[in-house]
Amino acid sequence: MSDTAPPTTSQAGALIDRARRVAERAYAPYSRFRVGAVVVTPEGATFEGVNVENAAYGATICAEANAISTAAAAGVRTLATVAVGCLDADECYPCGNCRQLMREFGVEHVVVQGTGGRVRIHPLGDLLPHSFGPESLGSS
Ligand code: THU
Repeated sequence: MSDTAPPTTSQAGALIDRARRVAERAYAPYSRFRVGAVVVTPEGATFEGVNVENAAYGATICAEANAISTAAAAGVRTLATVAVGCLDADECYPCGNCRQLMREFGVEHVVVQGTGGRVRIHPLGDLLPHSFGPESLGSS
């Protein structure tokens, strides 16, 4: 992992605003819980994702997984920041599986929409302590 500075308060706010706009494109006819994610590379490139649900509920793709996969498909292998916004609740923290997906690509900071419109910035290590990652296999 590198040591990218955390996003500033104003950068984090802009990322959440964007993630919430992205969430307008969510495909969530079952839960009606629309989520948007924006991932940022260390160089500042960004990729977006929304949750995409499925009639077979288990096939649902989270917004963060979608954004991370889109970045990976573009050749990105290292991410600095992931921002998560939602439209149908005050707060949306990433699920455990998405935290693990972030871990794979070295995400350092997660920006989340917290209660009362507060934007929160967390080191990924705080959301996923004692984690298992690529170097755990001795392959990094
Ligand atoms: N969801 C996400 O997109 N990201 C998360 O981290 C948690 C949950 C989506 C999945 C599903 O479409 C809806 O939110 C309700 O679980």
